[in-house]
Amino acid sequence: MQRIMPDRNGILVISDRPDRSKELARRLSSLGTCRVIGLDAQQNALGLPSVVVIDMDFRQQAAIEHLRELLSAPRQLATPIMAALRNETHLQQVQAAALGASTVLPAKMSYDEISAIIGRMIDRPPPKPSTVRTSVPAENLAEALSQFDTIFCAAGSGESVERVVVEQATASVMAAIAEGGIRQWLDIVWTYDDATYQHCMLVTGLAAAFARSLHFASNDQEHLVRGALLHDVGKAKIPHAILNKPGRLTTEELAIMRTHAAAGYDLLRQQGQYEPELLEVVLRHHELLDGSGYPDGLSGAQISDPVRLVTICDIYAALIERRPYKQPMQPAHAFSILQDMNDKLEGALVRAFAWVAESSSAPAHA
Ligand SMILES: [Fe+2]
Ligand SMILES: [Fe+2]
Repeated sequence: MQRIMPDRNGILVISDRPDRSKELARRLSSLGTCRVIGLDAQQNALGLPSVVVIDMDFRQQAAIEHLRELLSAPRQLATPIMAALRNETHLQQVQAAALGASTVLPAKMSYDEISAIIGRMIDRPPPKPSTVRTSVPAENLAEALSQFDTIFCAAGSGESVERVVVEQATASVMAAIAEGGIRQWLDIVWTYDDATYQHCMLVTGLAAAFARSLHFASNDQEHLVRGALLHDVGKAKIPHAILNKPGRLTTEELAIMRTHAAAGYDLLRQQGQYEPELLEVVLRHHELLDGSGYPDGLSGAQISDPVRLVTICDIYAALIERRPYKQPMQPAHAFSILQDMNDKLEGALVRAFAWVAESSSAPAHA
């Protein structure tokens, strides 16, 4: 049965190869009217669609520039935009997200899966104009995402994780949070379908917002954000099948996963470019005050303040992450879980985190 889409007129597919997108459009027509236009289309050809689907290869820079202009009206009208990536790389995901895509999927996903996701996007009412984002610091976000990519690729291939790139990424995240706030950061990071990237970027943004809310000196803010940025760098050494496993890990897989803290610590320590406080965050961010954490079951005063701060961001980020196969947890619920961990996390810091948690659930423009 076709959905009723008052005021808006169906699904619009923008494609670099309209002939190739015909089958996608045919499948999507079960959800409502579906039109395909090429990248050479003018603004007035867009109409007022319920959802925009971009089906293209994001390697063409000139096409991206034209698409950026073409999408300005849908972005201002808060029209949901989905990008189906013909060539799936982290950089292309970054570019799609920076163009305003709220959902980024690999085009190789089955038509049924894509239809189901677009169906949910249509069913979700668009925000009222007063909540439409108008000042997304997209360039900062895209830069930060690209620098993350460089860092994780280097770590995964045994190359040096250059401090200069880490500092650039830290500056990008801090600027994005300062300009757009935590909610805009979350909105774009949630579109990222790589579990590890999404998680690390969530933790880093939350740490930047937390450090700002605590009025840390700028130097201390940078230290904390840098630690958050690299806290899970050891995951670059964990097999993808374990990192991206949708279900619960087996005992053996969990044991492998838990090696990431020491792996990240070893990797960065050997380079000699990172301060002991940062290495401490990387090694200790799964230690808990009651001694139930890992790798060494440290407790109380053995756990430093920067570690305690990053651990709160880390757990909260894991709770609010968005994956295609599960319902997202609401920020308020996630925060209540932190509050219930009172023997594991420092209560005063959790209470201080309330502002970040509240900001992460507020409308983007508030
Ligand atoms: Fe971790
Ligand atoms: Fe983590």
